[in-house]
Amino acid sequence: MENNKEKNNMCHNKINFNLQLFQKYNEEIKNVLKDDIERYWHSVSVAITAVNLADIYGADKDNCIVAGILHDYCKCLSLDDMLSMCEKYNVILTEEDRNADGCIHGFLAAKVCKEKYDINNEVYNAIYYHTCGRPNMTILEKIIYVSDFIEPLRRFRDRVEEVRRLAYTNIDKAIVLSSEMGLEHLKNTNKFIHSNTQKTLDYYKNLMEVK
Ligand SMILES: [Fe+2]
Ligand SMILES: [Fe+2]
Repeated sequence: MENNKEKNNMCHNKINFNLQLFQKYNEEIKNVLKDDIERYWHSVSVAITAVNLADIYGADKDNCIVAGILHDYCKCLSLDDMLSMCEKYNVILTEEDRNADGCIHGFLAAKVCKEKYDINNEVYNAIYYHTCGRPNMTILEKIIYVSDFIEPLRRFRDRVEEVRRLAYTNIDKAIVLSSEMGLEHLKNTNKFIHSNTQKTLDYYKNLMEVK
């Protein structure tokens, strides 16, 4: 019930964006994620959050819609299926990519969506790097990275409200805090840490110190 109320509020926020484009990709993702309704709503919520942030940071809203809706296109596949699709779609995985299995769905989704929808390179990179980030991200990459973390249906971390606040005022600081929280979570759950996750944190932390 609580969840539905939030979803309604999210949809009723006044935002100005390309509805036709949204509807096109909404139909696609609804079909792909039909067995995981929570993931579907998360994808829609990331797209809407990204469009809101685009208003603040002057990013391309169409790219935000496409990258936001499609970023978890491959998230619901099993690891085995992901790995065989990586072979099929010629996604080259390094040893550390394989070890950081939470990142693979982003690498694969970028390639699959490129083939299926001919997404542009900016959208491709935003999807590719949405899990671990990278130093010197484009504004679209930053927005998708942060939106994935703060979208209003997310409830998974204590300090997410702080990241939400920062996202709308200083997106680089939001990246620092979300990367710190992501790393902490990976360490607490004994998961492998991709070097890009650490590099992202170091880069944006350093940027904060320089400023
Ligand atoms: Fe993801
Ligand atoms: Fe996501």
